[in-house]
Amino acid sequence: MNKSGKTAKIEFNDTSLELPLLSPAIGPDAADIRRLYADGGIFTYDPGFTSTASCKSTITYIDGLKGELLYRGYPIEQLAEKSHYLEVCYLLLYGELPTAGELEDFEARITRHTMVHEQMNYFFRGFRRDAHPMAIMVGVVGAMSAFYPDSTDVNDPRQREIASIRMIAKMPTIAAMAYKYSLGQPFVYPRNDLDYAANFLRMCFSIPAEDYEVNPILSRAMDRIFTLHADHEQNASTSTVRLSGSSGANPFACIAAGIACLWGPAHGGANQAALEMLKEIGSVDRIPEYIARAKDKSDPFRLMGFGHRVYKNFDPRAKVMKQSADEVLDLLGIENNETLKVAKELERIALEDEYFQEKKLFPNVDFYSGIILEAMGFPTSMFTPIFAVSRTVGWIAQWKEMIGDPEQKIGRPRQLYVGAPKRDYVNVEDR
Ligand code: CMC
Repeated sequence: MNKSGKTAKIEFNDTSLELPLLSPAIGPDAADIRRLYADGGIFTYDPGFTSTASCKSTITYIDGLKGELLYRGYPIEQLAEKSHYLEVCYLLLYGELPTAGELEDFEARITRHTMVHEQMNYFFRGFRRDAHPMAIMVGVVGAMSAFYPDSTDVNDPRQREIASIRMIAKMPTIAAMAYKYSLGQPFVYPRNDLDYAANFLRMCFSIPAEDYEVNPILSRAMDRIFTLHADHEQNASTSTVRLSGSSGANPFACIAAGIACLWGPAHGGANQAALEMLKEIGSVDRIPEYIARAKDKSDPFRLMGFGHRVYKNFDPRAKVMKQSADEVLDLLGIENNETLKVAKELERIALEDEYFQEKKLFPNVDFYSGIILEAMGFPTSMFTPIFAVSRTVGWIAQWKEMIGDPEQKIGRPRQLYVGAPKRDYVNVEDR
């Protein structure tokens, strides 16, 4: 990123300051306000970071107006069609598509790390059987720093690399274990002869009493879901990972913080909420009632899987996901799926509605993903853990980028204090 030579002028009281404008590779210029407080004595106010770039990044770019998403410059549609998840992981982590040899080596490294420490099995048993798998993920991933203390030194590049590989490799195993635990079924060990997605499906759905053949249609669809969710620049969970990492916290703790943030219904929890909403609507004749509720300011209800902070056009991931939902249901011979019918009709009605048009609310990635995951056999509670598995690589790539950035500092926002002014303590008998 270069100084563009241009400046933005800011005037207040009797002060006038020239702020350097920084020009990114693509996207709007950013006013560099780092010296604003030192030179002008004022802060900026931007809750939710709606106009604030928190870092420089080379990993992912979103053009919200065009509805475009690029990983290291490559459009998501091309990657979803032509690439596969582990190749995308390599691209996100190292910046370029791998050669055949580099890919083979990377896949071998990931595959060799898919098992978790045997002692972790006992750790799972401390959870209630009905615990949400995301609750288990937050706890178990955080606990990885206790199981793998030899890769927690953030100042050692080799340890950072090992921790990264461990997390990408073990996250599907941990998510599958969380699922198996909730069912009361035995954990299924990973298999090194299967690819990443097929191995995950097998760990979730096979049981020791029967053979289990992974359906290649489903593993391709699973791989595409992983790819579509792999990174999304400075979203809430990624920013959480960066903020946690900015203090020098170990990578497992940082990713656990990201998982906690992802769980919220405004973020990764929306895929579970979207499918639950579609099921609650149940039939197309009830859609107008829910559209009316979404528009009613006195009703907290929102159309889940709709709207996005950055996309003010179609989320390109939603387009691929919609197509994938059609394909998967078709290939599985699931005809007349009522939920898919409701989703398509809801999308059609909302897109023609003035409220949604005016506010530029379009379906996001979570709108159709649940339909595919349900068709594969996953309960809604597993949807967000699957998002966490996919996003782990993005979190790690962003965390590594932050650690290597010489401009990185501990994240420490300012505030506008609007509380009580200084006052004296009052003894309890005098209150
Ligand atoms: N249904 C109805 N109205 C909506 C919706 C929706 N889904 N989303 C936004 N609005 C309205 C909102 O009420 C507000 O109206 P007004 O300007 O009159 O107050 C306006 O649109 C702008 O909304 P906002 O909440 O200020 O926008 P935001 O950028 O802070 O929030 C969002 C973005 C994704 C949190 C929000 O659109 C939302 O809650 N959507 C539903 C949850 C969802 O699908 N989340 C998944 C996001 S994509 C995957 C991910 O990031 O994990």
